[in-house]
Amino acid sequence: MAADNQKWWQRTVVYQIYPKSFQDTSGNGVGDLRGIINRLDYLASLGIGAIWLTPIYPSPMVDNGYDISDYTSIDPTYGTMADFDELVEEAHVRGIRIVMDLVYNHSSDRHQWFVESKASRDNPKADWYIWRDALDGKPPTNWRSIFGGSAWTWSEERQQYYLHTFAKEQPDLNWENPNVRRALFDSARFWLDKGVGGFRIDAITYIKKPTAFVNGEPDGADGMVNVHTMTANTKGILDFLREFKRECFVGRDIFTVGEANGVAADELVNWVGDNGVFDMLFEFSHLTLSNDGEVWCRPRRWKLSELKTALSNSQKATATNGWCPIFFENHDQPRGVNHYFEKDADPIKAAKALATVLMTMRGTPFIYEGQELGMTNVAWRSIDQYDDIQSRAQYEFALKEGLTAEAALESVHDFSRDNARTPMQWTAGLNAGFSSARPWMPVNENYLTVNAELEDRESGSVLNWYRELSEFRRAHEELLSGTYVELLPKNEKVFAFERTVGKKTLVTVVNFSTEEVTLPKKFSTMNILLGSELNPQPLTLRPLEARICRA
Ligand code: NOJ
Repeated sequence: MAADNQKWWQRTVVYQIYPKSFQDTSGNGVGDLRGIINRLDYLASLGIGAIWLTPIYPSPMVDNGYDISDYTSIDPTYGTMADFDELVEEAHVRGIRIVMDLVYNHSSDRHQWFVESKASRDNPKADWYIWRDALDGKPPTNWRSIFGGSAWTWSEERQQYYLHTFAKEQPDLNWENPNVRRALFDSARFWLDKGVGGFRIDAITYIKKPTAFVNGEPDGADGMVNVHTMTANTKGILDFLREFKRECFVGRDIFTVGEANGVAADELVNWVGDNGVFDMLFEFSHLTLSNDGEVWCRPRRWKLSELKTALSNSQKATATNGWCPIFFENHDQPRGVNHYFEKDADPIKAAKALATVLMTMRGTPFIYEGQELGMTNVAWRSIDQYDDIQSRAQYEFALKEGLTAEAALESVHDFSRDNARTPMQWTAGLNAGFSSARPWMPVNENYLTVNAELEDRESGSVLNWYRELSEFRRAHEELLSGTYVELLPKNEKVFAFERTVGKKTLVTVVNFSTEEVTLPKKFSTMNILLGSELNPQPLTLRPLEARICRA
């Protein structure tokens, strides 16, 4: 793709903020919009062009904002609409756009729409959600919600069950109803009118339900089947999404990125690119290598070649049409340092290794807050210390599967979403500089050595490595618009690929292992332009060493 055909969002870096954990200014232990405004200069120093905010709308916070009770307001915990407008404006001054999270598969059960819908079977919003009669006094199907337990909850008022893919407080909206779609599209346009730069669209593969609701083959000791198996990416979903695109996105200088668990690389052509419904898609194939169907207590060992294949498949599928978001972390994933490397890996070197792949692949890199500092997982002693609804559900599921409490907790340590949600580590001071009050979630104990203030001063820090990579990327057309070809695909220690524009090629070489690696002879003539180690040797990669070379 020629550089002049590219859109702004293909040539930038996106930073994801989990507002609850980013920066508190009001002194209540919870992050807020003013905190983000205060940190815009820090964010600009990373060379980013957009900030994706996870939901900041009014919410009972059963799922930390992914249960929305009003789609066009700001939750008072985070601030006011005036704060939001100021954030958009101040970000614009620094060349940064604000991207909102749209959660349209479900709302909160406290949303006025659901309150009305459940009141009776014949009110005007009666079929805004998915209601079914009981079957022999039981839920209509054996589907298990993603957060555990039946995906159906009984409403005394309506004497019917409603469907919820996630928690019972997150009822699924009925997209078959045109009035529902219209209301959702209106709220997206509300934010567009405020000047946002795009949307991340949550759980979008679940909006279309199958025509017949039938039982599935049980996949656990509870006799249930994950609702994902039964409803993700159902035929007909693209019709809804084409309408969404037509109504809200066409002709606007924004980007859309859908969260698309259940879409495989070979289907990407329908989802992104010229005839696609979004600009980019977060697909999950590289995230789900490490456990069986997202069941945390059934981890599997994976090889580097599998990770490379998963990423390269999306690259190949979008080589001439379409575009990928590049990401390893978000608010639902464990920290990359812990997840993608051996347990004894040096965390600073590992963080730099992952950063190098993230910032040099073909696509738009998404940095998740704290990733640029090399923040790591936590391992709390009791399940009661975990806030995340999914961590608790996975723990219960593991116990039912016969695991000991200790083993169940270990799986939570490895996969808990709270790993990514501990407060941002700004300083070595009180509460890591996140808040003057006790934070809503404990700070990771390593904040004394892993924090922005310290890393800003250290030339060899993870933070400064991200800054260098970002600047290097901006200065090299190969990394912005070049083609991608994977090198050494069978190598289980090294991740290598080249990026080419015209006659100019850059090669990224990263050692994912904790051992020294000898490279094939053809690498000996390459000139190392940027390297994570001092005095790099042409054919020897030290443990976790990363470099970008001129071919
Ligand atoms: C995906 C979001 O990223 C996650 O945090 C949330 O729990 C579910 N969708 C439900 O909205």
